[in-house]
Order: sequence, then structure tokens, then C-alpha cells
Amino acid sequence: MDENIENQKNLISIKNLQKTFNCEKSFLEKSKLPQKVLFGVDLDIKKGQIVSLVGESGCGKSTLANCILKLIEPDCGEILFENQDILKFDKKQTFLYRKKIQMIFQNPYSSLNPKMKIYEILNEPLIIHKEKNRDEKIDEIISLVGISKDDLKKFPHEFSGGQRQRIAIARALILKPEFIVADEPVSALDVSISANIINLLLDLRQKLNLTILFISHDLNLVRYISDSIAVMNKGKIVEFSETKEIFDNPKDEYTKFLLSSIRSINV
Ligand SMILES: Nc1ncnc2c1ncn2[C@@H]1O[C@H](COP(=O)(O)OP(=O)(O)OP(=O)(O)O)[C@@H](O)[C@H]1O
Ligand SMILES: [Mg+2]
Repeated sequence: MDENIENQKNLISIKNLQKTFNCEKSFLEKSKLPQKVLFGVDLDIKKGQIVSLVGESGCGKSTLANCILKLIEPDCGEILFENQDILKFDKKQTFLYRKKIQMIFQNPYSSLNPKMKIYEILNEPLIIHKEKNRDEKIDEIISLVGISKDDLKKFPHEFSGGQRQRIAIARALILKPEFIVADEPVSALDVSISANIINLLLDLRQKLNLTILFISHDLNLVRYISDSIAVMNKGKIVEFSETKEIFDNPKDEYTKFLLSSIRSINV
């Protein structure tokens, strides 16, 4: 199918997603204190787009990401991936879904297993998913992210933060996923290294036609990379528009508040 027509479609469509955590009150008291975190989230992500999710700490961004990744179970709602509700998937469907979606975490220091060489880190998902021609796939991905063949023999601690994030990106992309959730992927890195990693992600998105949900506190960065921006406040998406529209013509009071905070820093 024509790529442009294909890219008009929603890859992910989230409807009325709600999530409550049951927190222990204390060690002694066994009663639970429920905390509602997602209050009916609706969000559509078109194929090939970078959608950023912004909002203050604790508003529920990672909780939403974890629901999409099927790491936690929401109370109710729908998460449609290619028009199928992932919350209704059986084990086999979930296994196949996990191949199509991958995560890039904030901290490249803790997200890579320190006891595994880079080759093993990249090979592991290929073995789990019974992929053939594994060495060819590893060679292909390392040349895309800029890791050398010699690096495959090394352990994560032998690399700088930026190189580790490249390795984490290679691991996320080794199974050729369609959708990437990047939760604050560069906030632990220096500014110049962070710019390299962002440009790498933009390049890979183009080459591999990736769809990306990008979670960040950095509104300047979000403005640079996103097609659309979803603004989250207290467990709800309060505004969702194209990037230019959010910055030029914000409608929600909370969006205006977020933008005013970067404008006052930039002055
Ligand atoms: N596993 C959990 N058990 C209990 N409460 C949780 C759990 N995960 C998150 N929460 C709570 O849910 C709320 C939202 O957390 P979440 O991590 O989604 O926020 P966030 O928007 O990603 O914040 P940040 O920008 O700081 O990463 C917080 O109050 C948090 O304490
Ligand atoms: Mg978070």
C-alpha cells in the first residue's frame, strides 16, 4: 500500500483508559489506599508520527506508557493497536505484540544487563523470538546506530552514557518494531550527547518508518522533534494537537501554563 495512505491510519488508539494503584498504607496496616492515576485517557497515534507526551512529574505519563507496553493492567478502557484491543490479547498474541513495540528507558546505566556482553544483549531478543540470520541482523542494527563490531565483545560498563543509549536503541530496534515508547530517553545525558541521540532517533524513524511516543519534560526538545503533542494534567490528556498549533495557539489553561514556564526561562 502507498506509504502516505498507510501513514494516515492510527497505529494506536486509546479510549477511556483508567488506572488505579492500590498502595499499602504501611507495613502493619494491610488495608489498601487506592490512588487513581489515569482518569480516562484518550489518545490516537498515527503511523509514522512522533507524538510527545508532556506534563508535570507524577501526572501519569509513565503509567500510560506502561499500560501500552502491557507491563501493567489498566482498570478499564481500550488500547487498540492496528485496530485490535491489546487488553484482550491471549498469551500468544501478547508475545507477538511485544515484538512490535519496544521501550527506550531514561537511564542507559540501569537498562542494560551489566553481566552481558553487547553481542548477548542484542542476540537475546532474537533468540526469544526464534529469529533466523541473527548475526546479520546484529551487524545491520549496529551499523545503523553507530556501534562497531569490536564493541560487541565489550560489557556495558566499558561505554559512555551516550554510547550505552545507542546500545539500548539497538536492542529496542533489533526485532524491527513498529512502535517505540521512549520515556525521557535523553534526560540523563549531557546536552551535546543528547542532541546526537535525538538526531539518531530522527534518522532511524525516517529509515525504519517508526512510530514513536516520546515522553519528556523538555518542551524545547519536544518542539523540535514532534509531529503532535499531547499535554497531560492529573491523569487526563487536556490538549492534543499538532506541534505548531500547541505552541502558537494553545487552548487549554494548563498548556498555557506549561508554555509560560519555558518562555520565562528563555527570557
Ligand atoms: N507501581 C505503582 N504503584 C503505586 N503507585 C504508582 C506506581 N507507579 C506509579 N505510581 C504513582 O502514580 C502516579 C503517576 O506516576 P507516573 O510514574 O506515571 O508519573 P510520570 O508522569 O511518569 O512522572 P515523571 O515525570 O516524574 O516520570 C504517581 O503518584 C506515582 O507515585
Ligand atoms: Mg515517568
